[in-house]
Amino acid sequence: MSRDAADARIDAGRLWQDLMAMAEIGATPGGGCGRIALTESDRQARDLFVSWATDAGLTVRVDGIGNIFARRAGSDPEAPPVLAGSHLDTQPLGGRFDGVYGVLAALEVLRALDDHGVETRAPLDAVVWTDEEGCRFAAGMVASGVFAGKLKLNDALRLADPDGVTIADALRNIGYAGTAPVGGHPVAAYFEAHIEQGPVLEAEGKTIGVVLGAQSRRTCRVSVAGEEGHAGTLPMERRKDALVGAARMVVALNGLAFTYEPRPVITVGDLRVRPNSRNTVPGGCVFLIDARHPEDAMLDRIEAAIRRACEEIAAASGLGIAIEGLSRSDASRFDDRCVATVRRAAERLGLPHRDIHSGAGHDACNLALAAPTGMIFVPCEKGISHNETENAKPDDLAAGANVLLQAMAEWAG
Ligand code: HGY
Ligand code: MN
Ligand code: MN
Repeated sequence: MSRDAADARIDAGRLWQDLMAMAEIGATPGGGCGRIALTESDRQARDLFVSWATDAGLTVRVDGIGNIFARRAGSDPEAPPVLAGSHLDTQPLGGRFDGVYGVLAALEVLRALDDHGVETRAPLDAVVWTDEEGCRFAAGMVASGVFAGKLKLNDALRLADPDGVTIADALRNIGYAGTAPVGGHPVAAYFEAHIEQGPVLEAEGKTIGVVLGAQSRRTCRVSVAGEEGHAGTLPMERRKDALVGAARMVVALNGLAFTYEPRPVITVGDLRVRPNSRNTVPGGCVFLIDARHPEDAMLDRIEAAIRRACEEIAAASGLGIAIEGLSRSDASRFDDRCVATVRRAAERLGLPHRDIHSGAGHDACNLALAAPTGMIFVPCEKGISHNETENAKPDDLAAGANVLLQAMAEWAG
């Protein structure tokens, strides 16, 4: 006889142990994690997750873009599943909780439901989305985008890293080129637990963020073309220095951000110089722009201004320029019913909570295109993330996982 999920609670100690064990994989000297998508350390993290899921009696399958689904059966195998998860890949100098928390909280929920003898009607899947961060293949959130029907599978598989290795090659290299179809089936609901990656919850003493949506985001690649030359013999006035041109563009974009209200965030974090040699004047420079704003229309205007600024600087410096859009993610608004589920669960559990918008992007932003979706935030120390010192409290992480359990159980009947 199935027991009521309302009294079920996750095992906080087991969740914390899992998080610390996973943090050993790709651990960086500064105390963080560097598990770039589809590298050896990502493979090890995936293998560890699969071993834990298998030990928990879950059925594991991998789809055509490496997304992993660990399924807990429901009483009705035909019922659309309730999904919960996040990502195991991290930034090069990332933290121990961004993404990983949502994956391991989902796994912990499935174990806790077993421990408490709770049966659900719909199946439950704990999910690992491939390459959420996009630091290697530039676009980010591609795999959940394919699952949600936003991107074509073959277009995503062809994305290549700076060394020309495609996502398809990299999946094969680590043994996660799955065969299960990517998406294309109904999903009852998707929930994602994540650290806030901002300072609000901690500052207000709130344990749970009821996430209403996420801001709009655009990424593009700028290729600046100049001419290589000898650092010792080419006079300054005759140079076509691609790096100097790119540097002027980066400073201009930074200044542009301060001319709009509400203010966008514009970042250039990835810049590569050709040939990148001390005594050759750079002939080429490629950099990526990440621009975000709460409103789509405003971000469209800002993107146009970004392009104009780069083109004007190139023209004034006698440099060639090509600007290529890489990804576009309009502002997300999560399903009112899922938002209410999260809020009600926090109230039932007596957890201080507040509504909040996400500055960061998440796989949930893609899932929201295909299924009722909600997110649960928990505080992180000083709001720091994408940084080795990223930190979160075991009690907050456990509280968020308990909200996730209640939300999943409610939607799984
Ligand atoms: O970039 C983002 O917003 C996410 O953390 N990958
Ligand atoms: Mn994340
Ligand atoms: Mn991240």
